Amino acid sequence: MEVRILSRKFDIADAHLLEVAKQHGAYATLDKVFAMPPADVTDEVKNSGLRGRGGAGFPAGLKWSFLPKGVDKPVYLTVNSDESEPATFKDRYILTRDPHLLIEGIIICCYAIGCHDCYIYIRGEYTTQRKALQFAIDEAYAAGYLGEKVAGHDFKLDVTVHRGAGAYVCGEETALLESIEGRKGQPRSKPPFPAVAGLYGCPTIINNVQTIASLPFILANGAAAYKAYGTEKSPGTHLFGISGHVEKPGMYELPLGLPLLEVIEKMAGGVWRGRKLKAVIPGGSSTPVLTPEEAATATLDYESMAAHKTMFGSGGIVVLDETVDVVELTKNLIDFYHHESCGQCTPCREGLGWMLKIVKQLLRGEGTIADIELLRELCDNIEMKTVCVLSAACTMPVRSYLDKFRSEFVAYATDRPKPEQA
Ligand SMILES: Cc1cc2nc3c(=O)[nH]c(=O)nc-3n(C[C@H](O)[C@H](O)[C@H](O)COP(=O)(O)O)c2cc1C
Repeated sequence: MEVRILSRKFDIADAHLLEVAKQHGAYATLDKVFAMPPADVTDEVKNSGLRGRGGAGFPAGLKWSFLPKGVDKPVYLTVNSDESEPATFKDRYILTRDPHLLIEGIIICCYAIGCHDCYIYIRGEYTTQRKALQFAIDEAYAAGYLGEKVAGHDFKLDVTVHRGAGAYVCGEETALLESIEGRKGQPRSKPPFPAVAGLYGCPTIINNVQTIASLPFILANGAAAYKAYGTEKSPGTHLFGISGHVEKPGMYELPLGLPLLEVIEKMAGGVWRGRKLKAVIPGGSSTPVLTPEEAATATLDYESMAAHKTMFGSGGIVVLDETVDVVELTKNLIDFYHHESCGQCTPCREGLGWMLKIVKQLLRGEGTIADIELLRELCDNIEMKTVCVLSAACTMPVRSYLDKFRSEFVAYATDRPKPEQA
């Protein structure tokens, strides 16, 4: 099941060091890339069908082609290394185990889009990862892979690492830009989209770490080789982090399109302690949950997930066993998003707080059936009424818990003894 494209060097000792990485092929694609016209590099990425691995799955090459032509302004690449979605832990493997893969991908992307200044936005809590990344960047400068003449070619490229300060919303691409510019991390209204007016008002491409790290394989081996993995509409591989109630939690690189339950069984050893499966969160906390019956028919690709009205998002699969209290889980979820709301939009700032109050009331045994209906109504009234989708990242999963595990909410509103009776 497992494949090794992005993770090829992950188990090689010291592969984070340039010398070792080079022995295993790092930077080997650059001469080929620099011999191609930049537009051909973009075409190769388009043909590979690579879709953004930050969650939304937007086709990478297509995004690059939105950059306006003939504009007298610098073009920027910002690499999204915020990785703050609960249950997501894939990019950190690239940052620590093969940072030169990311740097090589950055060079390829920057050459294709005509960028000479790249920023990597890394979450504040990633101390070890930032050190590893900066060490690799310093090595790349010293060896001439970054700087005035990249790998001896007539192409200048500087890469700067920018640390976040621990805000989930700064993973949202325009909040990320605000943060780099030194302002409060609050998302911008779109349009204009960053490709037209992004960092410092200039054309900007924002891609996830894994998206960029996929480029060396595509350029080295061609689009067809990449498409040999995955399905027709979801080509390639993905780093899936499997956590929760499984025997072997971990990060696994898999071709897209595999049956979800088979992956949980074969890679992660199945539900732990011989317990029954209650539900699966397919792609990080913001994705609608799947019941065991739904999980049984879902495959890990964009189409199947859409057909199941969910997403594999950032590849963070969470397995929930029969002991999980869904109402408690819903409270934790809302608590997180309420805390992380930047406060710019009223429905998110006030609405998520209101939802949290209601679910806490239910948990205390003081809630009613009308409160459950109100919770559901709030989801509908908050979603898509805000500048960014942080609030939807809360209401979409909450709605799925309310709809699929309604009886558990009802039990709190009816069956449980009220505090004074207990
Ligand atoms: C609240 C919020 C948090 C996000 N966090 C991340 C993140 O940590 N990493 C990431 O790559 N994308 C994140 N995204 C998605 C980015 O806005 C953007 O779509 C992505 O970086 C684009 O890269 P891609 O096309 O390569 O996927 C987040 C979006 C939202 C709304």
